[in-house]
Amino acid sequence: MNKRRKVYEGKAKILYEGPETGTLIQYFKDDATAFNNEKHDLIEGKGILNNRFSEFFMTRIAALGVPTHFIRRLNMREQLVRKVEIVPVEVIVRNVVAGSMSRRLGIDEGTPLPRSIVEFSYKDDALGDPLVSDEHITALGWATPPELDEIVNMTLRINDFLMGLFAGIGIRLIDFKLEFGRHIEDGMMRILLADEISPDNCRLWDFETGEKLDKDRFRHDLGGTKEAYQEVARRLGLLQEASEPLNHTGPVLVSEN
Ligand code: TMP
Ligand code: ASP
Repeated sequence: MNKRRKVYEGKAKILYEGPETGTLIQYFKDDATAFNNEKHDLIEGKGILNNRFSEFFMTRIAALGVPTHFIRRLNMREQLVRKVEIVPVEVIVRNVVAGSMSRRLGIDEGTPLPRSIVEFSYKDDALGDPLVSDEHITALGWATPPELDEIVNMTLRINDFLMGLFAGIGIRLIDFKLEFGRHIEDGMMRILLADEISPDNCRLWDFETGEKLDKDRFRHDLGGTKEAYQEVARRLGLLQEASEPLNHTGPVLVSEN
């Protein structure tokens, strides 16, 4: 195979050194984890789908004028991205109460929120990614106040865009998680949307049936995780048929190399 240098390996992705300075190759694995690695499994073909989902969302978000790390998809499991210094904060947007907000505050899952809420958690697996406020982030130097303002503004624009996009294909965007990073180019520092956008880090419910079409199927042993991801891909026009096999060269997906 090739001798690229691995820069970082996370739970669902690997980063390799890219072909030019300031670039990385992001490889999508089939691994699924939940509850801070307590639960781990492989979902065959998930990495291929998440690579396509991320390409799809990142290119459209960039077209809105929100800068992202995405440069181009290279093959079925890899994309070329701009190298960033990750801001160690997970930015979560909630439109409807679910998951940890429901548990923490004792509010039923599915309760709509009168406005979108932005939450932050400190990225630290050993601490279980604890919820933090903007004051923690700026006082501890994880981001400056202007950087955090920019991150929140970008996040709210992305939320408006994604809510409309999903509504158009019969899906409620309940919540999702974003990550941002600093990228230096021509001596200028910019905040870019980084990481990925896929059903691994969104909650997506069918508008009609309420069926969960995201990683909660895996987290809560509901079964049909891969089929749910394929259904979202099909509605977005990324797969022709929900039943199309993921691991074979076909007319729609480019072959793996
Ligand atoms: P939560 O309800 O568990 O806090 O999750 C909120 C959203 O963030 C949900 O769409 C899943 C996503 N998320 C991640 O992508 N990674 C994580 O580590 C966590 C905790 C949540
Ligand atoms: N991905 C995180 C983990 O592996 C949490 C989650 O998505 O539930 O722990």
